[in-house]
Amino acid sequence: MIIFATSDKGGTGRSVTGSNLAYRQALQGKDACYVDFDFGSPTAGAIFDLGEVQAGTDGDGLHTYLEGNIAQPRMINVWAETQREALRNRPAGVGRLTLVPGDRGGGEFPSSPPAVQRCIELLVSLDEQYDLILVDLSAGRSYATEIVLEATAHPSMAGVEARWVVFHRWTRQHIVAAGGLVHGTKGILDTGELHGHDRGILQEKIRFVRTAVLDPSASEQAGLRPEQLAWLDVCNRRLQDLAAQNRVGRVHLLGVIPLDPVLQWQEQLLTNDDVWLHRTANERTVNALEDLAKRILDIDSWEGL
Ligand SMILES: Nc1ncnc2c1ncn2[C@@H]1O[C@H](COP(=O)(O)OP(=O)(O)OP(=O)(O)O)[C@@H](O)[C@H]1O
Ligand SMILES: [Mg+2]
Repeated sequence: MIIFATSDKGGTGRSVTGSNLAYRQALQGKDACYVDFDFGSPTAGAIFDLGEVQAGTDGDGLHTYLEGNIAQPRMINVWAETQREALRNRPAGVGRLTLVPGDRGGGEFPSSPPAVQRCIELLVSLDEQYDLILVDLSAGRSYATEIVLEATAHPSMAGVEARWVVFHRWTRQHIVAAGGLVHGTKGILDTGELHGHDRGILQEKIRFVRTAVLDPSASEQAGLRPEQLAWLDVCNRRLQDLAAQNRVGRVHLLGVIPLDPVLQWQEQLLTNDDVWLHRTANERTVNALEDLAKRILDIDSWEGL
């Protein structure tokens, strides 16, 4: 299963949530691969604590591969290469966790038939090797998005299951922007249709994930005054109405990740020790990530919503 992780705005939680989803899948024994298609800023290495590639790799990453200069992009075994000790002591029975990094300073580049062909070859080959491939796309109506829409419309990818998760914050601007990225002019559906996708089928493969959501009823909010809690509740209902109007509402929702201090400040993989031993991360956050990791691979979660 390939998941294209996208968002209209930057800073939505796409990479932090996506990396944690790949990690959770690997913990559950699945082979997971994170592909950094954020061409302008491929910094996923930082989340996996891969110091040497925290801003991309040098000359052997996805940019160089898609431009046709190498036969295979670099593949990094996160369990073995991470500088974070808590991750290197991986539990027994975990699956593979691989990062395919972009190139440092690679930048955006327009789609071209050879780049699309190489993208197809990469995705087909990864699909044979991994249970979950999470492709972190550059935000907005990006070249990265166009390349993968062209690739997935190609007949040689017909047998590969590919879905889309649009990440957004639980705010007015983000809700409107996320809806626009999918349904708006030159959005994912328009661009997909242009490249040969069936609009209705593509739309059924797209779901939304809300990130860094503040829950008025959570215990961490116990310090808020009653007036603030009541006001938050009103805001929440207004946002729900706005989400429904923008087709980003409950019917198209795949998950909600709560606001978590460790994700906010440290942008890291949340280990079970962060929750139960160090008690720095919230249990609710890890439960939400676990739940989303399961739903992403479960076809029923996507159908009939
Ligand atoms: N669940 C969360 N709780 C609190 N803060 C979060 C959460 N998820 C993400 N963040 C914060 O949001 C910031 C942006 O997250 P992230 O880098 O994943 O977004 P992005 O959409 O990949 O951004 P970019 O477009 O820059 O690649 C992070 O620096 C982190 O501080
Ligand atoms: Mg990112």
